[in-house]
Amino acid sequence: MHSFGYRANALFTFAVTILAFMCAIASFSDTLNSPTPTAHVQVLSINRFQKRPDGDDEVSMTFNISANLRSLFTWNTKQVFVFLAAEYETSKNSLNQVSLWDYIILEKEDAYFRIRSTNKYRFIDQGSNLRGKDFNLTLHWHVMPKTGKMFADKIVMTGYRLPEVYR
Ligand SMILES: *[C@@H]1O[C@H](CO)[C@@H](O)[C@H](O)[C@H]1NC(C)=O
Ligand SMILES: *[C@@H]1O[C@H](CO)[C@@H](O)[C@H](O)[C@H]1NC(C)=O
Repeated sequence: MHSFGYRANALFTFAVTILAFMCAIASFSDTLNSPTPTAHVQVLSINRFQKRPDGDDEVSMTFNISANLRSLFTWNTKQVFVFLAAEYETSKNSLNQVSLWDYIILEKEDAYFRIRSTNKYRFIDQGSNLRGKDFNLTLHWHVMPKTGKMFADKIVMTGYRLPEVYR
């Protein structure tokens, strides 16, 4: 007959093995999920477009974001961090990225949304490069799982342009 200690230890080892197995299955099943998120952003207005006293350009805009990120959620998803960035090219940098808005989605039900917002963070260019500038609006997301690796992806929306003149 085995001692109590031995049995408790065996049970513990068994439980840990099962747990490790379940974690592996959880993160593996996540890799099988191929999400099909959609997003659309419409710039409704440029509220302010100015050169600041320090010479940097600043834009304030209102936009509508509609997105369906529900397919990012699996039973292993803890939360999804999403942010909208304006991305554009200048002679100095091939990629300038300015975060305009962000959101933490905790529930799958909240991952299908339609919101109207002005930029939550200031859209400032280090210089005066924004007049007539073409830019992309990119919706980035980071999926934080309960177990396993975090993953990130994005949807790039093109075809946006800033006005030629300050207003
Ligand atoms: C905008 O997106 C298009 C298509 O993905 C890409 O070719 C272009 O380089 C992007 N522009 C910037 C400034 O990131
Ligand atoms: C923008 O979103 C708001 C609220 O979600 C909606 O009422 C409005 O019709 C939308 N505007 C456009 C132009 O799609």
